[in-house]
Amino acid sequence: MVKPDGVQRGLVGEIITRFEKKGFKLTGLKLFQCSKDLAEEHYKDLKGKSFFPKLIDYITSGPVVCMAWEGVGVVASARKLIGSTDPLKAEPGTIRGDLAVQIGRNIVHGSDSPENGKCEIGLWFNEAEIVQWTPAQ
Ligand code: CMP
Repeated sequence: MVKPDGVQRGLVGEIITRFEKKGFKLTGLKLFQCSKDLAEEHYKDLKGKSFFPKLIDYITSGPVVCMAWEGVGVVASARKLIGSTDPLKAEPGTIRGDLAVQIGRNIVHGSDSPENGKCEIGLWFNEAEIVQWTPAQ
């Protein structure tokens, strides 16, 4: 998911390009204004953290771009493409390492396991919004 700061900074195309160039297949894509309820459900494991209220304000502060990507090892690979949560610790060459400086404005979210990936796709997309396709022969 491209977070509100990524959308507002015009980085949606750049982020999609990095995933496409790596070789992953886009199966879902939408610009979406997230509700407080959805944000709280998405980040429910962080509910006790001091930054939780600010995180919810941030993620609901403007539209996000939800993406579903498919491919071999996609979750682990996406996490490498995205880089460490704290952009100052993220390696150059990663999305956060190249494009962000603040942990609270880290541009993009990626699922941390295949299981969570499935849950998050279910949370952010309707079934009809996920399109399975194969390249023309
Ligand atoms: P994300 O990958 O979406 O997963 C949880 C999010 O919490 C993380 O990216 C950051 O946006 C946010 N986060 C984690 N730690 C902090 C922190 N110390 N201060 C503010 N936001 C944080």
